[in-house]
Amino acid sequence: MMSDGLKGQGNLIIKNAAELVTCSGFAAKHGKEMSDLHILYDGALIIENGIITKTGKTEEVLSDIDLSHYEVVDATGKAVLPGFVDSHTHFVFGGYRAEEFSWRLQGMSYMDIMARGGGIVSTVEATRKAAKEELIALGKKRLDRMLSFGVTTVEGKSGYGLDYTTELKQLVVMGELDATHPVDIVRTFLGAHAVPQDYRGNEEGFIEYLIQEVLPDVAKGKLAEFCDVFCEKGVFSIDQSRRLLESARSFGLQLKIHADEMTQLGGTELAVELGAISADHLLYASDSGIQKMAGAGVVATLLPGTAFSLKEPYARARFMIDCGCAVALATDFNPGSCFSESIPLIFSLATIYMGMSPEEAVTALTINGAAAIGREKKVGSLDVGKSGDVVLLEFPSYRYIPYHIGVNCVETVIKKGQIVADRFKEGGGMPC
Ligand code: NIG
Ligand code: FE
Repeated sequence: MMSDGLKGQGNLIIKNAAELVTCSGFAAKHGKEMSDLHILYDGALIIENGIITKTGKTEEVLSDIDLSHYEVVDATGKAVLPGFVDSHTHFVFGGYRAEEFSWRLQGMSYMDIMARGGGIVSTVEATRKAAKEELIALGKKRLDRMLSFGVTTVEGKSGYGLDYTTELKQLVVMGELDATHPVDIVRTFLGAHAVPQDYRGNEEGFIEYLIQEVLPDVAKGKLAEFCDVFCEKGVFSIDQSRRLLESARSFGLQLKIHADEMTQLGGTELAVELGAISADHLLYASDSGIQKMAGAGVVATLLPGTAFSLKEPYARARFMIDCGCAVALATDFNPGSCFSESIPLIFSLATIYMGMSPEEAVTALTINGAAAIGREKKVGSLDVGKSGDVVLLEFPSYRYIPYHIGVNCVETVIKKGQIVADRFKEGGGMPC
């Protein structure tokens, strides 16, 4: 893994790509638009100072170029795609919950475990205890693995502190990792992720505490761009979620919601009402909520790894796309409901169980993932002006990603024009 060092701004050319899967576009793709990947066969692209400056057929791109100024990558027999955007994760945490996973296999539900004081709250205890340096070391390992799967931009949430000190510690850790690791990190404040022990039965009081004591400093310190909430029966109600999110908006944060994940509470409709950038999970979203989301341009971020791990029904991706929604896919990587950074797993679940085509899945993990975190003008496609974030597969087509079930097809990862991971090079080996 060549992931160390500061972020570069390389000059690099990729030539002879069997498929240059550009996913061209600067906005979220809705409904049928999700099927068009804008592929160039025998494609090439140029990256200068970390930014894409030209794309096209190899012959025309290379016609009047002095190759000696560039690192040249020959992609003969390989598909080339934009770096993946994992737009929903909880990757900074202390401790693990392997025991809890076994309980769930024996039939205990995620919400039962949470109601008994386990689940998120047990990760909160371990994260409060963990030193900043420990969280940085753990975060780096996890980012390395994400990078090996081709992820070049990731969203990360706080939410394992539920108090001022630890929520800010998690956000600061992500900021420091962003400054040093090749993967770009976009931060979300999720202080309302669970009800801490000392506020049980006083959820209102906890929301008030977040609004009065925590949010103002998160905003002042520019520690997060987004505010999220676990809007769920037995956690935070629609009214409590609304209060928190309206306050976050007044501080200039954009909004996200863990919506209708375990029950149909109406988080989808709340996301539409508040103009959230995304509504996430949506396993139990109503028909009318989905139709409204399509009209309002709220990105539907679906997390099939979580449904798989919790043995819950998958979100209705096919219906959402047919209604004209912009669907994004993400891992939801976290120590409880989905302990996996695996992008190949997400591709396979989305195509085999959720009725998404391989093309729609690629769109959902690139340009639509970018749109879910406000980065659609910067990453998520191979367009001139965007960051030179690129993955090369060991196979000639994107179709191999869902087909090679659960196995990593990514061979080389390029971030801002620099090769940051290369599976078949000595010293560039990836952990999976
Ligand atoms: O997206 N639902 C709430 N949050 C996470 C799970 C976090 C955890 O279990 O630690 C989710 O599923
Ligand atoms: Fe989540």
